[in-house]
Amino acid sequence: MKQQVMLWAGAGQIGMAIARRMGYGKKILVGDKKLENAQAIAKIMNDAGYDVTATEMDLSSRESIQKMIAQAQEMGEITMLVNAAGVSPSQAPIQAILKVDLYGTAVLLEEVGKVIAPGGVGVTISSQSGHRMPALTPEEDEQLACTPAEHLLELPLLQPENIRDTLHAYQLAKRCNEKRVMAESVKWGERSARINSISPGIIVTPLAIDEFNGPRGDFYKNMFAKCPAGRPGTADEVANVAELLMSDKGAFITGADFLIDGGATASYFYGPLKP
Ligand SMILES: NC(=O)c1ccc[n+]([C@@H]2O[C@H](COP(=O)([O-])OP(=O)(O)OC[C@H]3O[C@@H](n4cnc5c(N)ncnc54)[C@H](O)[C@@H]3O)[C@@H](O)[C@H]2O)c1
Repeated sequence: MKQQVMLWAGAGQIGMAIARRMGYGKKILVGDKKLENAQAIAKIMNDAGYDVTATEMDLSSRESIQKMIAQAQEMGEITMLVNAAGVSPSQAPIQAILKVDLYGTAVLLEEVGKVIAPGGVGVTISSQSGHRMPALTPEEDEQLACTPAEHLLELPLLQPENIRDTLHAYQLAKRCNEKRVMAESVKWGERSARINSISPGIIVTPLAIDEFNGPRGDFYKNMFAKCPAGRPGTADEVANVAELLMSDKGAFITGADFLIDGGATASYFYGPLKP
C-alpha cells in the first residue's frame, strides 16, 4: 500500500495541533519559510512518535509550492493538506500580506487540488477577521472566488488606494480564503476530495503574541475580555474543529468555513464589542 502523506504548510502552533491530531501513521511533510521553524517542530513531533520531514517553502511562490508537492509525492500519495502558514497585520506590510495570505493560499489550494488523492481532505486557516469586515458586493465575492490566481492581485479591490492598512489587507486576504475554498471545493469534489476553512479568533501562538505586543495590542486584549468566552483560545481547540472536518464524521462538509472565536464576532456585531 502506498504511504499516505500529509502536506502541511506553516510550522506554527495551529498547524502542529492539527498535525498531531490527524497526522499519526502518515508521512508528514512540513514546509515553512523559516526552515528552522519547520525543523524545530519536526523534532518535537518525531520525539513524540510522528514521522515528520521538514522542508523550506515559501507560500507566496508557486514554484516553491510545486517543489514541496513534488517532494511529498516522492514520499507517497497526498491524502491530507493543512495550510497554517501566514503573516499577521503586525508582522508584515500590505503587499506581503496579500502575496502570502491571499495569493499564496489560492495557489496552494489550486496546486494540491490537482493531485489530492481520492477521498483526500484539506483545511486552510482563515480568520475571524474575514467575518468582521463588512460584506463585499456579490461581484467582488465572485472575483475573489474565481479569478485565476495569477491575476488575483490585479483586482481593483486589492489595489493600494483601496486598502486602508495592514488589518484591512489581512481581512481581505482571509475573506478571499473563504471564497477560494468554496470555489475550490467544486474542483476537489471532482476527485472525491473535500476542502474547508477554519476561521479562528484569538488563539495564543507566537503570531497572536506579536499582535498583543503590536500597535493593536489593547484592541485584541479588549476583544477577548469582552467576548462571550472571556478568554483567548488554544490551538488544540482549533484542532478539535479540524478533526471533525478531516475525519469521516465531516464527510458531508466541504466548501465551508467554520468560525471558532469564543463568540468575539457575535459580540462585535450585537454585543459589548460593537464599535
Ligand atoms: N493565532 C491567532 O490568533 C490566529 C487567529 C486567526 C487566524 N490565524 C491564522 O492561523 C495561521 C497560523 O498562524 P499561527 O497563529 O499558528 O502562527 P505561527 O506564527 O505560530 O505560525 C505561522 C507560521 O507561518 C510561517 N510563514 C509565514 N510566512 C510564510 C510563507 N511565506 N511561507 C511559508 N511559511 C510562512 C511562519 O514562519 C510561521 O512558522 C495564519 O494563517 C494566521 O493568519 C491565527
